[in-house]
Amino acid sequence: MQISNFKLFVLSYPKGFNIKLPLKKIRIPITRIILLIVLSSLFAFSGFSQKSNIITIQADNPKIIISKHIYGHFAEHLGRCIYGGFYVGESDTKIPNINGVRKDVIDALKKLKIPNLRWPGGCFADTYHWKDGIGPKAKRPTIVNQWWGGITEDNSFGTHDFLNMCELLETEPYLSGNVGSGTVQELADWVQYTNFQGESPMSKLRAENGKQTSWKVKFWGVGNEAWGCGGNMKAEYYANIYRQYATFMSDGTSGKLFKIASGANSSDYNWTEVLMRDIPHQMLDGVALHHYSVIDWNNKSSAVEFAEEHYFKTMQVALKMEELVSRHSSIMDRYDPGKKIALVVDEWGGWYNVEKGTNPGFLYQQNTMRDAMIAGVTLNIFNNHADRVRMANLAQTINVLQSVILTDKEKMILTPTYHVMEMYNVHQDAKLLPLTITSETYTFNKEQLPAVSASASVTNTGVTHVSLVNIDANKTQEIVIHLYGSNYNGVTGKILNSEKLNDHNTFENPSKVNVKPFKDAKIENGILTVKVPAFSVVVLELPAVNAPR
Ligand code: AHR
Repeated sequence: MQISNFKLFVLSYPKGFNIKLPLKKIRIPITRIILLIVLSSLFAFSGFSQKSNIITIQADNPKIIISKHIYGHFAEHLGRCIYGGFYVGESDTKIPNINGVRKDVIDALKKLKIPNLRWPGGCFADTYHWKDGIGPKAKRPTIVNQWWGGITEDNSFGTHDFLNMCELLETEPYLSGNVGSGTVQELADWVQYTNFQGESPMSKLRAENGKQTSWKVKFWGVGNEAWGCGGNMKAEYYANIYRQYATFMSDGTSGKLFKIASGANSSDYNWTEVLMRDIPHQMLDGVALHHYSVIDWNNKSSAVEFAEEHYFKTMQVALKMEELVSRHSSIMDRYDPGKKIALVVDEWGGWYNVEKGTNPGFLYQQNTMRDAMIAGVTLNIFNNHADRVRMANLAQTINVLQSVILTDKEKMILTPTYHVMEMYNVHQDAKLLPLTITSETYTFNKEQLPAVSASASVTNTGVTHVSLVNIDANKTQEIVIHLYGSNYNGVTGKILNSEKLNDHNTFENPSKVNVKPFKDAKIENGILTVKVPAFSVVVLELPAVNAPR
């Protein structure tokens, strides 16, 4: 019996996915490798039914910081994201608010510790003229939101409203400039208006509108999706335009702006190549990338009523992020081996059909355990590539695509994605612990995906966090984690799971999917064994011996 168990292990082992994360070379002494083989064999003999999920974590000498900005969000003038989501106006509402911004939203997002918020788009950004959104609200001109439902935008939520809201949320603003239909002067003026502290026409105008001190906005996008809704440009043309715009974006202070070039659509590697080649690096701080988890752009599935086939295919597309980030990074490495320029994944998430009866242009969708899986695996990918991925923005914060919050008039609910983002916020600005994974496979219709995804980090107080996702729709995964280089004071954890894959929170039942304490992890002699149920996300906490608890 024991011997056949061992054979089973040896036979099934090569079928597993062996992921070597490309962060840095992990040097494991030969004695440890032998120990790993011996221990793995012992597990094989000890009656465990599943033995192919093995993770090794190198806990000593971590070097790379996981930038908190990987956990950024995105708010576009699209559907009910701004109006009804963030903003309900100062008058005519019974919904508690501060300067028109919903109090319940402020509290929820502060709890999430959102590090930055991108605004005003998206496609909307390249139609937005910021001067329409300043001054007395009653006098602001209206425009038609040509991309999102053709509705009238009254500009009642503008620059002051957004930047003051960011202060309330304790988050950094990321402004997306209009390159597609704007002018160089217009974007240069916006930078001056928000940032210039001395005397200038723009700082004077800002003061006339009630704000003496500047906001000092650091993050600036130079257009959005220039290859598509941002102007249908070719990469070479956009690279030239970027150079022109970036030249005039200056706030006249020594504080450097962080300028982000509109990046590639998923696997358009040529786009990244051209930008890295043609834009002088001293005027480039980030190159963006957009990737949505969509099975088929012409035939998207329902956000809630989906079969396992849809789930599997969605996860296939979500996991493609690993390849995208690796390949875009390796192009960047050739031009920028010192990794000065960040890869900024400023739009990512699941995209399905809109909910029945809602405006197709508003992109309102529910959010299930499938979305929790997308969030968990994507954030693990970003963490593990923290050397190059230093900023990212989930699309979008409220009532649009993969939201963390949904609102219905005075009601507000938190989605499964919110809970994943909250569980993972322990990684923000922590040091990455490099790891290797050998994973069991999740098989559907003869196609396979790695079932287990993971990332790990240590805080500056010596607390290690390991985030684990089991995307298998049917099987619990037993995972053996070898931790090298530190000793721990035990393990605690949290889990997000639910009975069915399409479980979600509703305004009637807002806590159906919720975080619970996790008990199925134990640590002995540096070996952590964990049982992660089907389609669930787990975050473990391991204080080091001597670390403050
Ligand atoms: O997030 C919705 C839209 O998706 C954005 O406006 C655009 O940039 C992308 O195509």
